[in-house]
Amino acid sequence: MRIIQSNNNLELSQVSLGCMNLPLEDEIKTEEILEFALSQNINYFDTADLYQFGKNEEVVGKLLSKYRSRNNFTIGTKVGNEFDIQLQQKIGWNPTGRYIKEQVKNSLYRLNVDSIDLYQLHGGTIEDDKDETISAFEDLKAEGIIKSYGLSSIRPNVIDYYIKNSNLDTLMMQFNPIDNRPLELMDLLQDVVIMARGPLMKGIFTQQFANVLQQKFPGGMFGYSSKDLTAILSELMEVTGDLSALSYRYILDYSDIIVSGASTLQQLQNNLDSYNKALEMNSTDFTGILQNFKKLRYEDHRI
Ligand SMILES: NC(=O)c1ccc[n+]([C@@H]2O[C@H](COP(=O)([O-])OP(=O)(O)OC[C@H]3O[C@@H](n4cnc5c(N)ncnc54)[C@H](OP(=O)(O)O)[C@@H]3O)[C@@H](O)[C@H]2O)c1
Repeated sequence: MRIIQSNNNLELSQVSLGCMNLPLEDEIKTEEILEFALSQNINYFDTADLYQFGKNEEVVGKLLSKYRSRNNFTIGTKVGNEFDIQLQQKIGWNPTGRYIKEQVKNSLYRLNVDSIDLYQLHGGTIEDDKDETISAFEDLKAEGIIKSYGLSSIRPNVIDYYIKNSNLDTLMMQFNPIDNRPLELMDLLQDVVIMARGPLMKGIFTQQFANVLQQKFPGGMFGYSSKDLTAILSELMEVTGDLSALSYRYILDYSDIIVSGASTLQQLQNNLDSYNKALEMNSTDFTGILQNFKKLRYEDHRI
């Protein structure tokens, strides 16, 4: 497993485990996935306060803390979405300094840690008082409550502001051969660790693509019909034999880290096999066939 070092000295495995879809209701299965990830040298775990309204941080924090004496690992979490635990609902967006400084205490408690390795703003709009948000992250860093901070956003104007006006360590965006909108931003992102989430597009870049398209994207996406995507993916499957490896290979040409999600141990095992295949693949072999995907552009929130 390759290790990527950030400007703030976080050492992050090139494949990170996205914890959003872990089977939290079954802690034995969840622990099996976390333990397997650690055994394969995955050392970066991505969660958020919003996932299952605090429950994800709580379960991931509790289970991972059992391994802290044996393994070095990094946990990233996120803040900014107000939610109501009783109603199990998101209720608003709040990037104010006061809210961030209040919520970090809840995340520390739920994660069962003394400090947060990577604290990310979970979205953001250009109208926010971004300097106040940045000051809050800087204060938390100076106090040692967080080690580093990042942004999870797909908005070019928001990304541009944080890149130019903060010490952002990481930037998370959805990125894969279908959602290739981040490509136009790559020049701006030379100095941050890029984290690609959604590398399998919820399972589309797997052998199960036909089922996933039918069940999760019956109306297609990004201007593709489900039929168009089935045709492109079938051809890619024939040529490469492993759509996950193809997507990982594509992502690694631009992004430092792949934040891949799994809801079963088998999925994680398959994904790591595909990652290892991706490391052996030559991107230029697939340049032509990848051109079947449209080159997309962010239409809103432009710089
Ligand atoms: N705004 C944000 O900050 C934000 C937003 C979204 C995600 N994230 C983070 O990024 C992580 C990854 O995002 P994502 O879940 O969209 O990414 P993804 O890795 O593209 O999709 C994960 C899902 O794909 C399916 N899958 C994974 N491996 C598979 C396999 N080998 N075979 C068949 N299906 C497979 C599973 O769906 P099923 O569970 O249905 O089987 C799994 O839950 C999340 O866990 C979260 O940590 C952050």
